[in-house]
Amino acid sequence: MFRRTTFAIAALALSAAMLAGPALAKPVVIKFSHVVAENTPKGQMANKFRDLVKERLGDKVEVEVYPNSQLFGDNKVLEAMMLGDVQMAAPSLSKFSRYTKKLQLYDLPFLFTNMDAVEKFQKGPEGQHLLESISSKGLIGLGYLHNGMKQLSSSKPLRVPADAKGLKFRIMSSDVLAAQFKALHATPLKKPFSEVFTLLQTKAIDGQENTWSNIYSKKFFEVQPYITESNHGLLDYMVVTSTEFWNGLPEDVRAEVKKSLDDAIVFGNKVAAEKALGDKQKIIDSKRSEVIELTPEQRNQWVEVMKPVWKEFEGQIGKDLIDAAYNSNK
Ligand code: LMR
Repeated sequence: MFRRTTFAIAALALSAAMLAGPALAKPVVIKFSHVVAENTPKGQMANKFRDLVKERLGDKVEVEVYPNSQLFGDNKVLEAMMLGDVQMAAPSLSKFSRYTKKLQLYDLPFLFTNMDAVEKFQKGPEGQHLLESISSKGLIGLGYLHNGMKQLSSSKPLRVPADAKGLKFRIMSSDVLAAQFKALHATPLKKPFSEVFTLLQTKAIDGQENTWSNIYSKKFFEVQPYITESNHGLLDYMVVTSTEFWNGLPEDVRAEVKKSLDDAIVFGNKVAAEKALGDKQKIIDSKRSEVIELTPEQRNQWVEVMKPVWKEFEGQIGKDLIDAAYNSNK
């Protein structure tokens, strides 16, 4: 009896499947992995990209977004991309030094006066050319995305460079950033983004540098009593994919995915501009952290101490490139 029923069910299932016709083609899946919260420029950009692709490509392509280092941290994501375990990511420009030394440009302290200068440089020939700087490694730079200018947060007030002496700061995996903190006679520690909150909370480190958006969304301000509005460096991203994956997409699909990404980046950049102001204000309103503004004299001291780092990396980056970036401030 039991066997006969099972047989009947199986036969029914089979005829239902035959009626449904040939199996539908599976969608191309784009896993987009990132490390920040969803309420950030990158988080919002990735979600917008997913929605635009769904709207425009229907069942052909499916974007799955994995925020908060859920899938990979930035130290692993590019390797995972080459292995085909993830198809897109947007690590900060500070995290590419294993692939190219050229992008170290963006970490030079006090290089760009504001985000307009960054935008101008990135849209220009040198900025565009830098998107190709990782192509020999099997990766394609699909575009830049902004976050904003970095601030210094700490367990003690930082007004002049001497205040940072002897303190431990978490940095991204960049030798330029290490040199920048060494110039302050501080100790830089390269640590993944996912560990920063705990390192600060347990006082294993004294401070870190990041944008208003990251300081707010990851609650660093709740465990850092002081934030100096230094605007000393840039945190921007490059959206990347692997050459193998990208070239394997049908041409029409690739064009539509790229258009959706470009539109999502425009949206993400607007979010970045809003959050640089809005998240700063939220931190001030929280009264958890004191925001320190520098006088022009104090700021000059930071510039003087940090700027020699440029010379140290000129050989690896190229003087022409540094000049081109600096000239975008004009
Ligand atoms: C960091 O590690 O501090 C940032 O790169 C995180 C991010 O992606 O904004």
